[in-house]
Amino acid sequence: MWDTRARTSAWSPSAYWETGLLRSDDWTARWIGPAPSGSDSLASPSPLLRRAFRVRGPVRSARLYVTSLGLYEAYLNGQRVGDQLFTPGWTSYHHRLQYQTYDVTTLLQPGENAVAAVLGDGWYRGRLGFFGQRNLYGQRLALRAQLEIRYQDGRTERVVSDADWKTTPGPVLASDIYGGETYDARLEHRGWAAPRYDDSAWAPVAVLEPPSASLVAPVSPPVRRVRELHPVTIRPAPSGAMVFDLGQNFTGWARLRVRGGGAAGTSITLRYAEVLDRAGDLYTANLRAASQTDRYILKGEGEEVYEPHFTFHGFRYVAVTGLPGPPDSATITGIAVSSDLAQTGLLVTSDSLLNRLQQNIVWGQRSNFLDVPTDCPQRDERLGWTGDAQVFARTAAFNLDVAGFMAKWLADLASDQDKSGSVPWVIPNPLGGDSTRFAGTAGWADAAVIIPWTMYLTYGDRLLLERQYASMRAWVEYARRRAGPALIWKPGWQFGDWLALHTDDPSYPGATTGTDLIATAFLAHSADLLARTATVLGRTGDAGTYAALFHAVREAFHREFVSSTGRVGENTQTAYALALAFDLLPDSLTPIAADRLAQDVRARDTHLTTGFLGTPYLLHVLSRTGHAGLAFDLLTQRSYPSWLYPVTMGATTMWERWDGIRPDSSFQNPEMNSFNHYAFGAVGDWMYQTIGGIDLDPAAPGYRRSRIAPRPGAGLTSATASLETRYGTLASAWRLERARFVLDVTVPANTSAEVILWDARSDGVQEGGRPLTASAGIRAVRQRGNEVVVEVGSGSYSFTVARRP
Ligand code: BGC
Repeated sequence: MWDTRARTSAWSPSAYWETGLLRSDDWTARWIGPAPSGSDSLASPSPLLRRAFRVRGPVRSARLYVTSLGLYEAYLNGQRVGDQLFTPGWTSYHHRLQYQTYDVTTLLQPGENAVAAVLGDGWYRGRLGFFGQRNLYGQRLALRAQLEIRYQDGRTERVVSDADWKTTPGPVLASDIYGGETYDARLEHRGWAAPRYDDSAWAPVAVLEPPSASLVAPVSPPVRRVRELHPVTIRPAPSGAMVFDLGQNFTGWARLRVRGGGAAGTSITLRYAEVLDRAGDLYTANLRAASQTDRYILKGEGEEVYEPHFTFHGFRYVAVTGLPGPPDSATITGIAVSSDLAQTGLLVTSDSLLNRLQQNIVWGQRSNFLDVPTDCPQRDERLGWTGDAQVFARTAAFNLDVAGFMAKWLADLASDQDKSGSVPWVIPNPLGGDSTRFAGTAGWADAAVIIPWTMYLTYGDRLLLERQYASMRAWVEYARRRAGPALIWKPGWQFGDWLALHTDDPSYPGATTGTDLIATAFLAHSADLLARTATVLGRTGDAGTYAALFHAVREAFHREFVSSTGRVGENTQTAYALALAFDLLPDSLTPIAADRLAQDVRARDTHLTTGFLGTPYLLHVLSRTGHAGLAFDLLTQRSYPSWLYPVTMGATTMWERWDGIRPDSSFQNPEMNSFNHYAFGAVGDWMYQTIGGIDLDPAAPGYRRSRIAPRPGAGLTSATASLETRYGTLASAWRLERARFVLDVTVPANTSAEVILWDARSDGVQEGGRPLTASAGIRAVRQRGNEVVVEVGSGSYSFTVARRP
């Protein structure tokens, strides 16, 4: 590469790619599993499967392609293949099943070899969903494995799953995503995955009919162990259990280390919870039917180390019973697991509570981006709730690289979408249902349109829009039909502004927004985004059709919900937030509506009342309509309800409800009280955009052109933000000094930026110690009200703005 001064860069390291198994006839491996038994629909020990084979000559390369019904762990010559967890991942299993490809060249050896796997119930046939069902996708576990060996001399050979494999039950006696795992170490088969193991007592496998799903290669990074956490305290609880506090709520499990001294058959129980009750015991009522309990039965041979295989828990505390000796800090290690998505965003401010909020948002995302964007990781749910993902998508794309993760999930969304265009509540959808049962609710199903558009803006990937287009359009058409000729969507079940403050709460009357208003607003918004999508894709006919639909719904909305005095609907914060954010008001009423919103916030002593759907837009509309100061005050409010209230109560993740733990330290209703739900963390994108100052220009998506417009407020004295874009690092760091505001900006090569200096006059701004006009890289400067707008090319800049005395 060459830069603007024709200097040549160093060579990048070489990269390579290879194609996977693209066609179904590339697979010769059969589907195999234990022979059917009377208990196929019940939890049963995880089967081990294996086969020995010979390697005849020096190997140039070898690949193992694997997938399964249920979860698998693969082994070659006794070694675990790869470090991926919960493979083959969770997809719309009826339609799409992922397979993984492993480079196993170095695991092979001359002569005798063995390939093996263990299977777990997982999402496929374990318990899933809040009705306690099992076997939602099928009853029988199965494996498909194909090892392709390429010898130095050009010969190729395949070792595939077929009737020659053997199977036997393994030491995982039971595993369940909600329930946890029971492992009896006495039942381990030493050397079972190694070549010279005697499997003559094992049963032959059964060959199964292939499932109908297409086999697809993953586009999302895999789930891995991402972090280890060590106990901050170890205390006996009144129940007698030893409670380990890992200091952070997260998703994963505990690694148990027993130093010896326990007799074979001793059972150690690990229970997991997010919070403690007042007495110091685990509080588990909010887990509902998910018992999140692991049991390990000692083999009694010195030090033993155990980690579960096919389950995960949402927790901060582990209560252990049955330990043969006194615990120490190595008895329990927290293993955090997550889709292994690269961190892209960074935001640090001068306010430690805001920094903790930002960390809580990221922990919420890490905890819930486990192959699928889930609502929560602890209770009997952990489903890909569309509404939650929709409200959080933009924030998610600041924190981590979610391009592949969301592309995978959106493919599942399209696969599970009903013929009518209706979108299920959860994706993947194991709940069944039809167009209106477990499906088709505003703000949730709009994930079909909002998320692809958000990903396009963030990553500039037009192909994603192309792939999702039919799905996006089908949803808008469905919603249009539900709204009928008057274009007001009234009938049917809606979640509405889920978990907004309740009208029956005497301190907050008037917080409930009509579901007809919300559904109609989202229809307008999705039609608008679909029109923009059609424009990007050059589908001019559709662009016109959906722009017209947007305007027609906007007018209907205006007629039905907006008074001539600018009152919107029930005069709730969410009604104003949606109407303003989705551009549903005539220009003349916009400032009036914004003032009414601001008045409501002030009348509630600077508190919000919004739920899942209103919350993401609240601060954006305030700061866009001249109420930035109020937006900052809301963000930094510490008393309930607010974003910082949970932080002051010691939260380490986002809570599902504004008052998961009430000011009197009692718990909210255990039926719905997760301490690890990211939805209210949707405020993160405002924090990046307004405090950090990093935003994109929708006309040049993917940050080809960015907007840097940080805004100090609420007494903050500095903030540093950066984002790894597809072009490189975009960064903005500011500090307030006594006499000046300093802003350092880095704009990646091949991009440009509009830098907006707030409260400035162009003759009072310098860059690099020189007047703006003298600075290289600056393309244009203009004054816009009390802002100075500077157009810059790539490079690093340091602006100083003289502050008014
Ligand atoms: C989930 C959500 C979800 C909601 C639907 C809850 O049980 O945890 O976060 O969006 O149901 O209203």
